[in-house]
Amino acid sequence: MTLRIATRQVTREDYLHMLAEQGIQGHATPFSQTGIQLEQPVSVDDLPQFHEGWASVQDEAAQLAAQLLAPRDGERILDACAAPGGKTVALLEACGDIELLSLDADAARHARTVEYLNRCHVHAQVKTGDAGDPMNWWDGRPFDAILLDAPCSATGVLRRHPDIRFLRRQEDIQALAQLQARLLDALWPTLRPGGRLLYATCSVLKAENDHVIEAFCHRSHARVRVPELDSGVASAWGRQLLPQLNGHDGFYYALLEKPVQG
Ligand SMILES: C[S@@+](CC[C@H](N)C(=O)[O-])C[C@H]1O[C@@H](n2cnc3c(N)ncnc32)[C@H](O)[C@@H]1O
Repeated sequence: MTLRIATRQVTREDYLHMLAEQGIQGHATPFSQTGIQLEQPVSVDDLPQFHEGWASVQDEAAQLAAQLLAPRDGERILDACAAPGGKTVALLEACGDIELLSLDADAARHARTVEYLNRCHVHAQVKTGDAGDPMNWWDGRPFDAILLDAPCSATGVLRRHPDIRFLRRQEDIQALAQLQARLLDALWPTLRPGGRLLYATCSVLKAENDHVIEAFCHRSHARVRVPELDSGVASAWGRQLLPQLNGHDGFYYALLEKPVQG
């Protein structure tokens, strides 16, 4: 069980002390600057100030999305596949002064994003819509940065959801890769020149990761910035994080920059 600490509310060190006072042991995660890994899982009701939003449950690899997109004051940001809101809230915790649109196609799932925002006392504009069809939700003002945490096979989190092994079919992967490509193509025009898009999946399959990004870069002339991290394996397109024994889930990140037209 890994926690993300709202470090604008409390430092990670102070929260570790608060946990210790409750008899809960944990240590700072090595890659995420906001993470604490607990020695034993506990009920969230036993976590200090949980209902005030000081801590949230989120895997360390997932926490890296906010760190890698690195939102800055005044930026307009889109979280394109946002529900149930883990990365939406993490982006707002990383930088309070951003204008964030949190979008998801699944209204019921996205209702949990609203609850999450309320618990953590942060604000985003929440919309339900197909990220692949911006005409239905975009007001035409370009985004400075986009997070596309794309629907995927979830093969990086098999250890948490072993049923995935039985539910996924070979043909699903091709369909997911097509959906991921469609979302990238649709979102790219909504990004301002010079803006950045962070593509993320919790998949360990090249078909959903490097191959999707490589093909997109050839179509779009996007520039690749391989995320700098001490975990995982870097390629020419992105970084594949592998599931770690006693550590984070499998995840993939690719950071793309839109060239400024001359
Ligand atoms: C990996 S989950 C997102 C997890 C979320 N970012 C978080 O950190 O809590 C992928 C999400 O994509 C959404 N989704 C699938 N197809 C979509 C589409 N065409 N447009 C927008 N959202 C979509 C799903 O409803 C699901 O919530």
